[in-house]
Amino acid sequence: MRISVIGCGYLGAVHAACMAKLGHEVVGIDVDDRKIKDLSNATAPFYEPGLEALLKDVQETGRLSFTTDMSFAANSEVHFICVGTPQKKGENAADMTYVDAAVLGLLPYVTPGDIIVGKSTVPVGTAGRLAEQLATQEPAAHLVWNPEFLREGHAVSDTLSPDRLVYGVIDGSEEHPAVAILDEVYAGSLSAGTPRLVTDHPTAELVKAAANSFLATKISFINAMAEVCEATGADVTRLADAIGLDDRIGRKFLHAGIGFGGGCLPKDIRAFMARAGELGADQALTFLREVDAINMRRRTRVVELTRELCGGMLLGKRLTVLGAAFKPESDDVRDSPSLSIAAQLQLQGAVVTVTDPKALNNAARRFPELHYESNTEAAVHKADALLLLTEWQEYRDLDPYSLAASVNSPFILDGRNVLDAGKWRSAGWTYRGLGRP
Ligand code: UDX
Repeated sequence: MRISVIGCGYLGAVHAACMAKLGHEVVGIDVDDRKIKDLSNATAPFYEPGLEALLKDVQETGRLSFTTDMSFAANSEVHFICVGTPQKKGENAADMTYVDAAVLGLLPYVTPGDIIVGKSTVPVGTAGRLAEQLATQEPAAHLVWNPEFLREGHAVSDTLSPDRLVYGVIDGSEEHPAVAILDEVYAGSLSAGTPRLVTDHPTAELVKAAANSFLATKISFINAMAEVCEATGADVTRLADAIGLDDRIGRKFLHAGIGFGGGCLPKDIRAFMARAGELGADQALTFLREVDAINMRRRTRVVELTRELCGGMLLGKRLTVLGAAFKPESDDVRDSPSLSIAAQLQLQGAVVTVTDPKALNNAARRFPELHYESNTEAAVHKADALLLLTEWQEYRDLDPYSLAASVNSPFILDGRNVLDAGKWRSAGWTYRGLGRP
């Protein structure tokens, strides 16, 4: 099929490359000239495992191109909207500027029988509004909401082999003409057995908001348990192992630590609360305020624990933060709990050095006041305490015996509960986890 993908960020760039991989002819469109140049040269504008190899692979087939010129969308019959919906400045609601601009820019090139497929995470009601706009311009085209569930760090495999496909069409009917078109787009995944659900517009939009809210709630639930464990001397990691063995609960997303961050979960739960408020259903989601508050408390807790580790005072202490990205296998630092903690520690007088295998350039742009060092050995040299805040494999694999010789004091705070406490203690370290004795 001939496909246009509007917006070539984390979502769109991966989606465009994967659609081409599945055999479609794809044009990726973005207003950012630099991004388009990079992508045209098969260079990923951000770090995502497997993306660059995939770009090279599909560009050789001639099925994938990138442009800043929206008129190229005219050759396509399926148009994916993949632009960002960040949090509005000073408000909880989502900023819809980019979605609205993308659709407005695209409309002149939409022809009868085309489908516009929204993938961005949007406030419920957006699809209905855009469908009305489309109907005035091209009544023989259709608007579908097809939320994306990809995780950064696994974006390529999540797109090629998703857990499920959700198509939100105006009447919620299997017979809607857009369903057959999307089935053709996703024929590869469907034949591999991916479940596919057809819903109405608002349900499809809510699937994404609800899924992210559930995941955020699961993380905050275990972090709340970590607070209780801290008060009682229990171990939250063993608690999670034990409750996770109940099939109904499951062990995934029960990793207690410094909490969730990134470009999705924090802003999505806030936008969801804001939208529920507009709809008069705010009471239904007040629990998400608590989810958010528990999450934010973890950051303060780490600052307090670090102060304790440093003998009650942060002033002048040399601290090394291992990991800047909001999660491993990503260079994304949007709402990164690690950087937020590093900045708070620095504000309280500590001298903070941050290291990360991939995210230092992005981190330095966001927090220029912190000191950055790409070499782990140099970063930990003469540190008064180490804080492991993003669980990259290379930090999980650090050898506590050799490391002890290069730091000033062998103190480690494991903000992700991924180190073997016994091993670190045997090597002479004062080890502190979160929610662990
Ligand atoms: C998330 C959703 O998982 C994905 O389905 C959606 O499409 C976009 O938002 P992503 O932001 O890439 O994906 O990251 P995810 O793997 O969900 O992690 C989010 C944050 O939660 C990270 O900061 C991670 O470190 C943290 N986390 C995750 C925990 O603190 N504990 C856990 O048990 C799991």
